Amino acid sequence: MFVSEDLSVNEQGNLTIGGIDTTELAAQYGTPLYVMDEELIRKNLRRFHESMQKCYDGKGIVCYASKAFSCMEMCRIVASEGDGLDAVSIGEMYTALKAGFPMEKVGFHGNNKTDEELAFALDNGVGHIIVDNIPELRRLEKIAAEKGITAHIMFRIKPGIDAHTHQFVMTGQIDSKYGFALETGEAFEAVKEALSCNSVKLVGLHCHIGSQIFDIDPFEEAARVMMRFMGKIRDELGYTVPGLNLGGGFGIKYLESHDPAPFETYAERVSAVVKKECEALGMDMPYVYIEPGRSIVAPAGITLYTVGARKEIPGIRTYVSVDGGMGDNPRYILYQSEYEAVVANKASEERNEKVTIAGRCCESGDLIGENMPLQHADSGDIIAVLATGAYNYSMSSNYNRFQKPAVVFVNKGESRIAVKRETIEDVIRNDI
Ligand code: LLP
Repeated sequence: MFVSEDLSVNEQGNLTIGGIDTTELAAQYGTPLYVMDEELIRKNLRRFHESMQKCYDGKGIVCYASKAFSCMEMCRIVASEGDGLDAVSIGEMYTALKAGFPMEKVGFHGNNKTDEELAFALDNGVGHIIVDNIPELRRLEKIAAEKGITAHIMFRIKPGIDAHTHQFVMTGQIDSKYGFALETGEAFEAVKEALSCNSVKLVGLHCHIGSQIFDIDPFEEAARVMMRFMGKIRDELGYTVPGLNLGGGFGIKYLESHDPAPFETYAERVSAVVKKECEALGMDMPYVYIEPGRSIVAPAGITLYTVGARKEIPGIRTYVSVDGGMGDNPRYILYQSEYEAVVANKASEERNEKVTIAGRCCESGDLIGENMPLQHADSGDIIAVLATGAYNYSMSSNYNRFQKPAVVFVNKGESRIAVKRETIEDVIRNDI
């Protein structure tokens, strides 16, 4: 009935998530409100975890990409499922640290890490650092040497794959700000240099080809290219790289028309490639890491808004304005990403209007979407935008000095605050 499987409609005709009436959540916590279903997050993590264990014979790990959605409660959930974490800034590492996350299971990413961040990662026992470029390798070697420790690293490799997704989220092609190119020999030279370092140990190679990818072929191709590069390193440099990190990027269903392959199929097909390549190369299977973000959290989240103004422009369109917008969901203005929406208090009615849901920022492009099928929405109604669990809260801003919404977790009929709503005092907190 809806794109997200954990949603249903109760006897009052109201939308429910995790067994709770969304209109009650809106009344209790206010709007705009991010709501995350813990049970579905855990279910998604377990599906990934189990497939990785099964397909890689116990030599696979899920490192949840916390850029998709990070807060201390989320880190606690990931930790309790026994999974790892991908962090891309000192802020994400600090969130994990403060949540008591086992830091040896954290991988630290970034195409332009600062010395402060590298030192922080080393001081706090971060498991490995995914090195993006030669100056970073040299800085890290120096910082680790000064501390008298060995930094475990992976290299971010551009496997040269076109992943058929929005160009802003495509990352594996040669024209990308991330990582080392294979074609030019740059990646090979980097490996050579790392092997001559004293305070850096190369524990893996990493690639991430993009995000919201439906097709499994480019993932298979990336695995093949990476395995062959591992073979070349073994043959020419006599070093067997023990780990292979295949990144994230698995697509999810935002609209009824989206049809992502189940993760289990991805894991089976990609692991078959890894195994086949290992056999051909006469190599042991590497330890395999994956970094799903969106596919873990996006389907588990919704955003609740209260409708304010309704503006019908005859022959043109109807605007339904809500009390949030690009500040809490910048994905339409950035990528024209489409979402499904429901009037939460009329969820059993037909969605027989097509409207533009507008935010309240001083910006004409501040829309949640255009041409969205919706029940008749009037002032005071609650609108739920579905599958907003990834890259919404994590990309939220204070544009126009609006306060960021609260994040509430629901689980089997219970709800709890995970991130408090910002107050107007928070807005001026750092002002002098
Ligand atoms: N690993 C690396 C190195 C990444 O750069 C990313 C995402 C992931 C894993 C997780 O990818 P996922 O499984 O979530 O697709 N803000 C954009 C998405 C940017 C993705 C950046 N990197 C959006 O809202 O669509």
